[in-house]
Amino acid sequence: MVKICCIGAGYVGGPTMAMIALKCPKVEVAVVDISVQRINAWNSDSLPIYEPGLYEVVKQCRGINLFFSADVEKHVSEADIIFVSVNTPTKTRGLGAGKAADLTYWESAARMIADVAKSNKIVVEKSTVPVKTAEAIEKILTHNAKGINFQILSNPEFLAEGTAISDLLNPDRVLIGGRETPEGKKAVQALKDVYAQWVPTDRILCTNLWSAELSKLAANAFLAQRISSVNAMSALCEATGADVSQVSHAIGTDSRIGPKFMNASVGFGGSCFQKDILNLVYICECNGLPEVANYWKQVIKVNDYQKTRFVNRVVSSMFNTVSGKKIAILGFAFKKDTGDTRETPAIDVCKGLLGDKARLSIFDPQVPEEQIMRDLSMNKFDWDHPVHLQPTSSNPVQQEVGVVFDAYEATKDAHGICVLTEWDEFRKLDFQKIYNNMQKPAFVFDGRNIMDVEKLREIGFIVYSIGKPLDPWLKDMPAVA
Ligand code: NAI
Repeated sequence: MVKICCIGAGYVGGPTMAMIALKCPKVEVAVVDISVQRINAWNSDSLPIYEPGLYEVVKQCRGINLFFSADVEKHVSEADIIFVSVNTPTKTRGLGAGKAADLTYWESAARMIADVAKSNKIVVEKSTVPVKTAEAIEKILTHNAKGINFQILSNPEFLAEGTAISDLLNPDRVLIGGRETPEGKKAVQALKDVYAQWVPTDRILCTNLWSAELSKLAANAFLAQRISSVNAMSALCEATGADVSQVSHAIGTDSRIGPKFMNASVGFGGSCFQKDILNLVYICECNGLPEVANYWKQVIKVNDYQKTRFVNRVVSSMFNTVSGKKIAILGFAFKKDTGDTRETPAIDVCKGLLGDKARLSIFDPQVPEEQIMRDLSMNKFDWDHPVHLQPTSSNPVQQEVGVVFDAYEATKDAHGICVLTEWDEFRKLDFQKIYNNMQKPAFVFDGRNIMDVEKLREIGFIVYSIGKPLDPWLKDMPAVA
């Protein structure tokens, strides 16, 4: 029986290993983590992450060929294939701070593997890492090897949160990079055999190590660039009277461009896009390519601009001040169908509104109060370090922020509503009831373009929708900076 161990029981490690266990009943899979709390949650009925369909998969395999354990060293020493799926956040201090990937967690995992290994291992980079990380990992492993052979593979993960299970069941492709030596090729084949249990072989792409590592950064950069491109257009649409949905549809029907990932919004979020682009920028700079670095940097600048533009629109529409006004925030997660708030645009929007002294009432169907409070009092880039390693801080935002358990409560007596996550349930709200209970004039700022604008205007709301022709009220308000 092949034994697999995955270090890191997070958004990637948990679902990917659950899928391998489901599809490969002859493989024993152990997912390990230094966070005992997280492991306990994986072993309970209340999993540590929300992902549609995940619980059903875990329930089928847990205790049979899928195990979650905090005994990291035992499972690593027994495994034939070790996936490393730990955090690779942006560095907050020292060389490359604010850009480079912080490989502290990765390095400590690699040193531990070298320490406890007693037999040959295939070590798989599942985390997103800078190009050439495999070379550094190889050095750490081989310098401590005691005659053990380690083969390093790069197998970046392309799942998207919110659709992780269907992405894993039916991936567009699986990418495996390895050394082009006989041992390297054998290791690639061993991993390919695992995926081939359910992924058609023509979708399993094999490349050299550096192409696989770079492809993950490049894929995220391209995806984020698409969002920034449509968001840049949305600003121009508002200025000219064009409608960004119509423009997106018109250009997306070109088969070279395609229709997906073309929705204008308050900006992209999530743990990966910004971090991976910053990392790409840093790698370009280190390789003497400042023009390429600047090109990708602009994707993040446009994203920041979009969030600022949204806050400015809210403030300028409401007579240039939100001081003391209650604003309802509908949605805090970075997208629907996840409880993940890492780099969610809601953080910047809420902080922007708090900066103008608004009072916020926040509702998200999946994000607990404790998480929202922590996010709003945290410094940039601190979020991707495991919670158990973060200092606990007293909460300065508690006075102005309330977290509530339904949208009607959040919007009661509010002056305005900001829709920041595209949860389906927000479309079905009784907006007449909401309008009746709000201060007048009542505003809706739709940061996800999911609202029926005409219906809301009929009820009496003043509505702002990103990239759409402006409400006559908003046209008269001061220009947005
Ligand atoms: P996460 O924060 O959810 O999980 C990482 C886990 O690793 C944490 O539970 C942490 O306690 C654990 N850990 C850290 N150091 C450890 C060590 N030395 N030994 C044992 N456990 C350790 O992170 P997530 O989202 O799963 O991301 C992991 C990697 O996958 C990152 O490099 C990320 O860029 C990449 N990725 C993330 C995707 C996503 O949608 N979240 C998608 C594709 C790639």
